[in-house]
Amino acid sequence: MLFNKKKTEEKIDRSTRILPTHVGIIMDGNGRWAKKRGLPRQAGHKVGAATFKKITRYANSIGIKNLTVYAFSTENWKRPKEEIDALMDLFYDYLIEALRDFSEENIRTIFIGDVTAFSPKLQQLIHETEAISSDKTGMRLNIAMNYGGRDEIVRAMREISAEVAEGKLQPEDIDPALISDHMYTFGQPDPDLIIRPSGEYRTSNFLLWQSAYSEYVFMDEILWPDFSTEDLERALDEYARRNRRFGGV
Ligand code: FPP
Repeated sequence: MLFNKKKTEEKIDRSTRILPTHVGIIMDGNGRWAKKRGLPRQAGHKVGAATFKKITRYANSIGIKNLTVYAFSTENWKRPKEEIDALMDLFYDYLIEALRDFSEENIRTIFIGDVTAFSPKLQQLIHETEAISSDKTGMRLNIAMNYGGRDEIVRAMREISAEVAEGKLQPEDIDPALISDHMYTFGQPDPDLIIRPSGEYRTSNFLLWQSAYSEYVFMDEILWPDFSTEDLERALDEYARRNRRFGGV
């Protein structure tokens, strides 16, 4: 994990620590996990999907209010067709399972990204999943699919400029709050903490607008399929050690 060594020694009492209201996770390292085992990349995604389910349930159980996971980016279409097909099958299986199990889970699921690029079958499941979980009072789970931070900002700019052109808005009305209201995450708090396992130290177009003051925890010693509930706890401990100033003192 990348952080200030001295501070790492600061013991955190998990019963009293401050939890982030919104956690983002870049579920990275599935391909390398599979490669290390001589397996096709798809095998890593399959185990990654099981990890996603485990971490989602656990996050809800400990009181995280909003979780956003990066499942498929606007750039992931560049991958080989067989890997994309395998990912689409995994999304499909997950949604079928989620629809079956949702009565027991107090999780509200929302999809962020341009889902119109997916097959009609997948889109139908996406809409059903959102509808069936819409009255849940527990954690809000944003699944970012065909999501890109730049794409989201372009989309927001187009909406806002159309409103200006129609005379519904004046240029002076445009401020950060208005822009936030045009993001997929409108009405939600910005992510406090973004976790990225696997040793890549970049944001990869994830929640670009919303992450202006997010705390990043890069966990370089772990690949997503191996990510455990204790790894999430360690990231939450690290978040609790951070001193957030939001540009102040
Ligand atoms: C990044 O690892 C991971 C992805 C592009 C896919 C993430 C998808 C899942 C975890 C599947 C389950 C999701 C849902 C919502 C059911 P990578 O392939 O870039 O890994 P690498 O960097 O080691 O190649």
